[in-house]
Amino acid sequence: MRYALLLAPSANHVYAAQAPALARAELAVFAGALATPLDEVAETTVAGVDYLVFEAPGRLPARDVALLSNLSAAYALFEVTDDDLLRPVELTPLARYDTDLITIPKYAGKTNEQFTRLLLNVTLLASDSAGRFLDGGVVVGDPLCGRGTTLNQALMYGHDGLGIEIDGKDVEIYLSFLKTYLKRKRLKHTTDFHPVRRDKRTVARRMEVVVAASKDDHRSGVTQKLVVLHADTLDAQAVLRPACVDVIVTDLPYGVAHGSHGGERGVSRRPAQLLAAALPEWERLLRPGGAMGLSFNTRVSPRDEVAELVEESGLTVADDVTGFLHRVDQTVERDVLVARKPA
Ligand SMILES: C[S@@+](CC[C@H](N)C(=O)[O-])C[C@H]1O[C@@H](n2cnc3c(N)ncnc32)[C@H](O)[C@@H]1O
Repeated sequence: MRYALLLAPSANHVYAAQAPALARAELAVFAGALATPLDEVAETTVAGVDYLVFEAPGRLPARDVALLSNLSAAYALFEVTDDDLLRPVELTPLARYDTDLITIPKYAGKTNEQFTRLLLNVTLLASDSAGRFLDGGVVVGDPLCGRGTTLNQALMYGHDGLGIEIDGKDVEIYLSFLKTYLKRKRLKHTTDFHPVRRDKRTVARRMEVVVAASKDDHRSGVTQKLVVLHADTLDAQAVLRPACVDVIVTDLPYGVAHGSHGGERGVSRRPAQLLAAALPEWERLLRPGGAMGLSFNTRVSPRDEVAELVEESGLTVADDVTGFLHRVDQTVERDVLVARKPA
């Protein structure tokens, strides 16, 4: 059976000519979670439009289609018939909420939402939680969460979120967006805010939102929890218990103006220094069997250096998750590195 995956026009917008290659690298990671082996994966153009084509020994089972529906660049899937016609296969991407949860926030320094989804996908699939990809309930941590792009994607997938952000303005704007969103969509939720004190010092402000994605979920007690800490990620140890997240997905400051806006205690303009200091904290937050997905600007943080720091923290770089280096703009060449914590 031959399949053709049509890439979302937005993928070309984000990655320009690199979109098909990135989609192919992402598909390679998804392939590990499918019941059906994929073969003959190739980028192709049909009538001037980019597709990724692949072969499977038979028709893809529903669960495989459900998984592939979440590829960050997937727009539509087709079976290619013997006479080269395209027969649509319905995609069923995870969408606990309306997609405007992801698309409304727009601000300088936002990590592109499609790229964030890619990073979350490949990290989840590299972790021991891969089998729960479609089931929800995975705890997704973003220890540099900004205004919550990763956390919103985690909610969208039905997972829980835990964010840390040093910039109080970002935290406030994010939570105010979220509360307005939940009210406007009439979704039942509760909120809780309190300072976290250690040794007579306030080390963080903790904000918790518990939400049911629908009336049915509310009735049956199915909720998702989102915690955002206004804190220095280097204080994570003082604020959070060990092994509290299943995956860590984070976009490091790019070391250029739009990627690192000033926080209360001064945001590091040297992402490698921040990473070196933060990795032991983040490693501790991960459950055994968990995975960490980092994205970074290779112009300021070469991949080898990031890999070395990650290995020094006790994690193992996932060499099977590769092929994501791409150009963002004149100053940013972004790459992805995923590492596992031994089970
Ligand atoms: C590249 S941005 C992430 C943006 C985020 N993914 C989003 O879409 O909103 C990196 C973030 O790290 C935050 N940051 C930098 N140093 C930090 C620290 N020591 N503790 C917590 N957050 C920090 C910055 O304020 C910034 O929001």
